[in-house]
Amino acid sequence: MGFMDELKGVFRETEEGINKAAKDLSRVLKDIKSAPFVKEMCKTASNMYRMGWDERNGGNISYLLDEKEVAEYLDLNNVLRKIPLAGVNAAEFDVTPLIGKIFIVTGTGKYFKNIEDDPETNLGIVRIAKNSVELLWGYKGGGRTTSELPAHLMCHMARLNADPENRVVMHSHPTHTLAMNYVHELDEKKFTHTLWEMCTECIAVFPDGVGILPWMLCGTNSIGVATAKKMEEFRLVIWAMHGIYGAGKTMDETFGLIETVEKAAQIYMLTAHLPRINTIKDEQMKELAELFNCNYRIDFLNLK
Ligand code: 13P
Ligand code: ZN
Repeated sequence: MGFMDELKGVFRETEEGINKAAKDLSRVLKDIKSAPFVKEMCKTASNMYRMGWDERNGGNISYLLDEKEVAEYLDLNNVLRKIPLAGVNAAEFDVTPLIGKIFIVTGTGKYFKNIEDDPETNLGIVRIAKNSVELLWGYKGGGRTTSELPAHLMCHMARLNADPENRVVMHSHPTHTLAMNYVHELDEKKFTHTLWEMCTECIAVFPDGVGILPWMLCGTNSIGVATAKKMEEFRLVIWAMHGIYGAGKTMDETFGLIETVEKAAQIYMLTAHLPRINTIKDEQMKELAELFNCNYRIDFLNLK
């Protein structure tokens, strides 16, 4: 056998080896649509839509995943394409702490009501790189990450510093919270105090209160930087006349935070124009926060 034949034989064997390895891998990988984190994203998006928080493509979610868990479903060496980190000014926003981390993220322009029926088109699983994200799954048909990804990533960094177990950042446009923005002073202490007064357990659910940003242009670096700054002390940040950001360890915690604010805002909007006869007193809120052992913003109460 000549040298060329020998060489061809080696190439053939190598190619067969690679094909076999790829086949073995695909056989051992589980179906991504059955992954608990994909199901959780679908269920949450549907709930958010049904709550009326996410009209059209309003809102976005990012969820930090565990690499080992993702590897049960996807070949992490198979990057489908790279998506630039749009809207990011590298001088103000250094993604280094998140490089290599994997997130599942809603797609820009995608309707929340459609996510559950077609997660592969409306969601993406991405790994953060220096100036881009590597797409590992999803955004079928050429989709991209939410336009709010810079704000989400900055919030993740801020919340991970405050709580290393933080995994979820969620943005939405809840109706009554937004309505309240138009008729209530946008002062963090006063706004939080009013919300706490609306349901007994509010102070225990968000003892850290609600941060507020004035109206700002969304999708930009600046709003991301400002939101992340607020997230150093709050898990909830209102974007005036736009919506709300929530952050938490789990999808339930984060959803529950926004849900509780929205419930309180709804009660406010149902009663603000009526004479107030009864109220929860500051001393009572203090009693409750202390019973639940909450690290609450005592400076947001008006105690004698
Ligand atoms: P995306 O469709 O880019 O996620 O934007 C929705 C939104 O709510 C912007 O603030
Ligand atoms: Zn929005």
